[in-house]
Amino acid sequence: MRSPLPKRTLGKSGIEISVVGTGLWAAGGGWGPVDDQRALQAIDAALDAGINFFDTADVYGDGHSEELLGKAMRGRRDQFVVASKIGWVGYDGQNGRSQYGTVDKLIAGVEKSLQRLKTDHLDLIHNHIFFREPNTDIFLEGFQKLQRDGKVRAYGLSSSQFEFIKDFNANGSCAVLQIDYSILNRTAESEIFPYCQKNNIAVIVRGALAMGILTGKFNSKTRFAEGDFRNNWQDKDDERRVFLEDLDKVKRLQTLVHGRTLSQLALRFVIDHPTVTTVIPGARSAKQVEDNVQAGLLPPLTKEERRQIDAITPPGGGRKIWPA
Ligand SMILES: NC(=O)c1ccc[n+]([C@@H]2O[C@H](COP(=O)([O-])OP(=O)(O)OC[C@H]3O[C@@H](n4cnc5c(N)ncnc54)[C@H](OP(=O)(O)O)[C@@H]3O)[C@@H](O)[C@H]2O)c1
Repeated sequence: MRSPLPKRTLGKSGIEISVVGTGLWAAGGGWGPVDDQRALQAIDAALDAGINFFDTADVYGDGHSEELLGKAMRGRRDQFVVASKIGWVGYDGQNGRSQYGTVDKLIAGVEKSLQRLKTDHLDLIHNHIFFREPNTDIFLEGFQKLQRDGKVRAYGLSSSQFEFIKDFNANGSCAVLQIDYSILNRTAESEIFPYCQKNNIAVIVRGALAMGILTGKFNSKTRFAEGDFRNNWQDKDDERRVFLEDLDKVKRLQTLVHGRTLSQLALRFVIDHPTVTTVIPGARSAKQVEDNVQAGLLPPLTKEERRQIDAITPPGGGRKIWPA
């Protein structure tokens, strides 16, 4: 019998989640063609492997990702810890305003997510937009009301902006931060992780595979499907330059694989950080889930392996994969 996937506590929320979770953005759309059947099989494979944490958002596939997760949860809601996000739908970038100009509108927005997910509560809700005033107070007040009413168990934000993170935890009740962190982007290590550790804010890592780059499956000739936003890596000169630099780093990392897949090495690097609670690799198929979940069962990286990774991306260094 294989050993169970370890669980960790989600900061001050007390919720227990698996050390590897599943991200459901690509399952909703925006990363090339979507195959619902494959995505549902991926969710089943995740549950079978001991994963209980699933991350979605209202904006992924215009609600499609939430609907899919709702379908998967039918009759077994208790096996899922569900996180969603709100903020990007209808965002007015020019004026820096979300469409949720009042607390009531924000709450109505979260209730729509509950309907798509066919559940009466979310375990976790994130503020998905990283613009501060005038949205922050509305999001904080709305999330706190939803928590009092039992519609969400905990709340937090998705951001890489330190000032915003501190604002959102002004009254100390922000339970989680979702943030981009990987071998290619270690910027959170300098200020943000120490702050989270001191304030008991759980860290949920996205971007650990750098949108697939750290799986090692891409090369300079890779072409992406129509509708996949990663086409920018071949079409936009500045993004192409960064992509090629990343591929060089991937080549150097391949020498550290030793019986693991490169994805497992990349995920293990993230899980080993003492501030990190869970990592949510995006997965579109059962095969990807089964590969990724193994990272949670592997031993930590050795000191020598970490030293070699430091030589590729120094502690606190690297580049942000997502601007947010
Ligand atoms: N809050 C935010 O603003 C925000 C932003 C980004 C992501 N997220 C969350 O984080 C999750 C992960 O997204 P991410 O950007 O961080 O992506 P990622 O996990 O770095 O990369 C995920 C992509 O890599 C590929 N992949 C995953 N496992 C693989 C494996 N074992 N072998 C080969 N390919 C594999 C899949 O795409 P292909 O099969 O198409 O290559 C998958 O969609 C999302 O689903 C979402 O839940 C949140």
